[in-house]
Amino acid sequence: MRRVAAVLSALLALAMAEPRAAELLDFSAAEIARILRHGPWPQPFAADPGNRVSGNRDAVALGRALFFETRLAPDRTLSCATCHEPALAWSDGRPRSQGRVALTRNAPSLLDVRLKRWFGWDGGHDTLWSMSLRPIVDPKEIGGSAYGIADLLRGDPTLSACYARAFGRGADGIEAEALAVDAAKALAAFQETLDSPRTPFDGFRDALGRGDVEAAARLPVAAQRGTRLFVGRGNCAVCHLGPAFTNGEFHDIGIPYFTPGGDDGGRHEGIKTLRESRLTLLGPWNDDPARATGAATRHVDPQHRNFGEFRVPSLRNAARTAPYMHNGSLATLRDVIRHYSDFDPERLHGDGEAILTPLKLDDAEIDDLAAFLDSLSSEIPGPDLSAGARCG
Ligand code: HEC
Ligand code: HEC
Repeated sequence: MRRVAAVLSALLALAMAEPRAAELLDFSAAEIARILRHGPWPQPFAADPGNRVSGNRDAVALGRALFFETRLAPDRTLSCATCHEPALAWSDGRPRSQGRVALTRNAPSLLDVRLKRWFGWDGGHDTLWSMSLRPIVDPKEIGGSAYGIADLLRGDPTLSACYARAFGRGADGIEAEALAVDAAKALAAFQETLDSPRTPFDGFRDALGRGDVEAAARLPVAAQRGTRLFVGRGNCAVCHLGPAFTNGEFHDIGIPYFTPGGDDGGRHEGIKTLRESRLTLLGPWNDDPARATGAATRHVDPQHRNFGEFRVPSLRNAARTAPYMHNGSLATLRDVIRHYSDFDPERLHGDGEAILTPLKLDDAEIDDLAAFLDSLSSEIPGPDLSAGARCG
């Protein structure tokens, strides 16, 4: 009898050690509504009205060739892919990028870049194509020129043919600035194809939306608790809002903006760049005669509060794009979460952010938020190497 009891209790212990069945937290209707705002994913493609080759297959092929083209650099050592490596989610894994000199900012991932309205950490560009021209001609980055781009498009037979197919005209006889802008528009068309795939979070979100308890319960419970924190007490979704987890605007979260080369004014400088540039939606190279997307650019005006504000980054695939922040100052996602937990509110400048107070998270909550952030990542396919995706 005693032996039977011993066996029974051993069996019982074994049964209790079995992994527990998938579990779904009791999300309220209000929580579900907030979670649903972070989708659906992917977002449908919409051609950019300011770029006449947006969505054009031949332009995508030309842009792809130019993206990996080191001949854009006078010494042939740098291309876009140097700092936006496909295998590193199209960023470079460094705190701050290394161009012809050391730069002061972290290279953002280019995944889902088509969904942005302002480009760069300071929003100094209002189109993907003008953001793509800058690194080519910036002496600190690739250090090339409009003439260099024009020579390449006129002189290289493969690129020349590719240009003619994409733009419906030969490159000969077209002035250098126009060719440089066209090259940038082809680069933009290529980058518009860099969509990030669906993630475990997306499966969870969609399942909650259709009331499918079993499918929703597939997201690990820690990530579910993290989701609850993210849309609730953490207040994260005030800024990291929508399908790409960003409201697309600029905020100060207390990351120091002092850099060895002088303070990084963030959005304050971005607005100045925008207003001084000819290469904006208000300038001559916008292909949309109605200037339909230019209203926001017309109304930007630098305010004191913009000093030290940076664009809210997307959180999709953040697990693959360490280190973090405009200056790469935080090494891991846990460091980022600890920042929101413990930052010094005095760091927020004068007319700072009423939304932010240190969250004082415990270790379990930090684990949960980290599990949630991890659920926003998935395997990223490499670049399309098929013949149809190439020039020539
Ligand atoms: C030397 C490194 C380096 C090279 C080379 C480089 N980039 Fe970047 N890229 C960066 C950094 C750093 C930023 C952030 C810039 C800022 O905020 O001012 C950036 C930002 C961008 C952005 C803005 C993304 C966003 O989320 O707003 C785009 C688009 C971009 N680069 C495309 C390109 C293209 C296209 C090329 C090649 C023509 C290129 N980059 C070459 C480092 C580089
Ligand atoms: C007031 C708006 C705001 C709130 C609230 C907010 N963020 Fe952020 N977040 C930002 C901005 C702005 C940055 C970039 C700051 C910089 O580079 O100086 C950022 C950066 C990040 C990054 C780094 C991403 C990268 O690629 O570098 C992560 C991760 C992040 N936030 C997660 C969260 C989480 C989790 C919460 C809630 C606990 C949260 N954020 C709350 C505005 C906000």
